Amino acid sequence: MLLPTVVIRSCPNGFSASVKFIAVFALFWSVAFSVAAADGKAIFSANCIACHGSKGEGNAQLGAPNIGGMEASYLARQLANFSSGIRGSAANDNYGAQMRAVVAVLKTDADRTAVANYVAGMPRAVSKNVIKADLANGSTQFNAVCSSCHGSHAQGNQQMGAPSLLGTDPQYVERQILAFRTGLRGVKPEDKTGALMRVGANMLPDVKSAHDVAAYITTIKP
Ligand code: HEC
Ligand code: HEC
Repeated sequence: MLLPTVVIRSCPNGFSASVKFIAVFALFWSVAFSVAAADGKAIFSANCIACHGSKGEGNAQLGAPNIGGMEASYLARQLANFSSGIRGSAANDNYGAQMRAVVAVLKTDADRTAVANYVAGMPRAVSKNVIKADLANGSTQFNAVCSSCHGSHAQGNQQMGAPSLLGTDPQYVERQILAFRTGLRGVKPEDKTGALMRVGANMLPDVKSAHDVAAYITTIKP
């Protein structure tokens, strides 16, 4: 800030003032710009890697799903839902409670958008977790119940807010279906997309089918 002032001291006043203004403006602009650009990555590195991994690949042991490459709008909505308690605030939601504690570091929509965009920009992290199940029943249930919202290849439906399920950890998928069925997730009045998924989860005839359909989804090719 000192340097431009010294250099332009001998110039006529108007010129000096405008140069100073430009110098100060440029400085602010570059600071603001570099902070905004760095945010998502910096937030992720400092707060998320421990559980979700450096590539967003997830950690089945910790129950942290693979999130790399998911839709930015879906990720941002989930982060906002954890922040507001729409998701993760039920008394016995131990996994959700972990995320509720973490998202306290995301103070604004801008923080959530930045980290969501950063995670969405990662290559899709495909879960290597394999579970044994009745794949024939899984296929039947998927085509009867899930494909209408998540797409015939589980590719998702942006308009409906239904995320792609391709590559998602099957244990996590099963746990989420049960969370929607038991009302751990998707019951708050503001949770419109959660309410849709509750309908889907409750259309499955039994708990075994949640396991089977989760396993079947891992066999779907994009
Ligand atoms: C202490 C471990 C832990 C940390 C740290 C953590 N997460 Fe999570 N995260 C979890 C767990 C466990 C879940 C699953 C919650 C559930 O089952 O509902 C989860 C779920 C999520 C989801 C929902 C995924 C989906 O498919 O709906 C998103 C998005 C997410 N985390 C993003 C983040 C971001 C961004 C950070 C860093 C700011 C972060 N997490 C830090 C453990 C963690
Ligand atoms: C009526 C439409 C609809 C049907 C049917 C439906 N879903 Fe969903 N599903 C959604 C929407 C919308 C969401 C996003 C919920 C949110 O925003 O929290 C969702 C979310 C999910 C999630 C959470 C993803 C994550 O990363 O946490 C899983 C898992 C899931 N659905 C699996 C299924 C399976 C398996 C079926 C079939 C048994 C199914 N869904 C049927 C609309 C539907």
